[in-house]
Amino acid sequence: MNLTPSHVLLTGGAGYIGSHTYVALVEAGFQPVILDDFSNSHPVVLDRLQHLTGQHVVCERGDVLQTGLVAEVLQRYGCVAAIHFAGLKAVGESVEQPLRYYRTNVGGLVSLLQAMETSGCRSVVFSSSATVYGDPDSVPINEQCPCMPESPYAHTKLVCEDILASLKAADPAWRVGVLRYFNPVGAHPSGLIGEDPNGIPNNLMPYVTQVAVGKRAKLRVFGNDYPTPDGTGVRDYLHVADLAEGHVAAVRALLAQEQSFTVNLGTGEGTSVLGVLDAFERASGQPVPFEFAPRRAGDVAQYFADVSMAKDLLGWCATRTIDDMCRDSWHWQQNNPDGYRTVGTAHPGSVSPFRAAVASPALTGGTA
Ligand code: WQD
Repeated sequence: MNLTPSHVLLTGGAGYIGSHTYVALVEAGFQPVILDDFSNSHPVVLDRLQHLTGQHVVCERGDVLQTGLVAEVLQRYGCVAAIHFAGLKAVGESVEQPLRYYRTNVGGLVSLLQAMETSGCRSVVFSSSATVYGDPDSVPINEQCPCMPESPYAHTKLVCEDILASLKAADPAWRVGVLRYFNPVGAHPSGLIGEDPNGIPNNLMPYVTQVAVGKRAKLRVFGNDYPTPDGTGVRDYLHVADLAEGHVAAVRALLAQEQSFTVNLGTGEGTSVLGVLDAFERASGQPVPFEFAPRRAGDVAQYFADVSMAKDLLGWCATRTIDDMCRDSWHWQQNNPDGYRTVGTAHPGSVSPFRAAVASPALTGGTA
């Protein structure tokens, strides 16, 4: 019986998927160590994680590009693995700022891997994306489908996968888990952590919840003339709690000295935009005003995953439904109309235990 929890480094661990993975790792008996520069996350999340897990949150403030700092953190906590979340992920923004995306996404991974090499930690889980597939010839998409990235963001993800493959070929001691996310949505059922986009949301679900909570007037549905059952775009939405559990399964598989892998993480089911709206109104009782608008540049008609490999290799499959995703997204947004910047009672009738949370006691350099 291992009485000392194994430490796992989470770069970008204060972000949307990182924070949910933090909770899942603690529940699985690991001790996560967050490394985050808070450029795209909020320190309040550390208080929320402390409340949810009942234990101090280990967090180091820093940029994954600081290779020396990353190596020092890995050594200090004796991390047995690292999960690399830190990165930029807005497809449209990547078209306008390719250099920033390559430096952050590719440079950040190289820096982490160099730090891991220095510290002797050679098990890494990489947060990749289904956008590496581009516009698929057919659905569902399996891991053998051709990769045809169509944006600088998607290209950075595929370049990172290639770097990991080259590293593994050069040094078989490396164990690499590549996870190609489809569309993560939802929030922890407590309503204490969730998706908190900066500015106007690019993605469907946070825009829907902001309309429902009254922050935005109506949703624009981008295109209703696609070759899909109701003409709107079809995607494979995955509850972030299922995604987090997929990361725990990936770490366990690597630490069990099993082979490296690249797997899709999705539900294997497609839901249209109108289908999401129906599910959201069922789950929340909130009407979502919308209007049809022209197709959005870069969108594809439909993609959803063949998830059999994740089941076979990791013993993982999604269990939560689109209604669960909508219910939990709405609960998060109701409690936090302005995300982690919400101060005071988040919503009439709810009492936030973090009403006055401003700065996080857990956030100092090297707090344990
Ligand atoms: C979903 C559907 C839109 C907003 C993106 C990234 C991908 C990944 C997940 C990182 C589409 C429609 C959306 C709106 C709408 N992120 N929509 N009105 O584009 O499938 O994937 O997020 O890995 O990299 O590309 O997700 O949520 O933006 O769109 O009608 O205001 O909702 O057209 O059909 P997408 P999305």
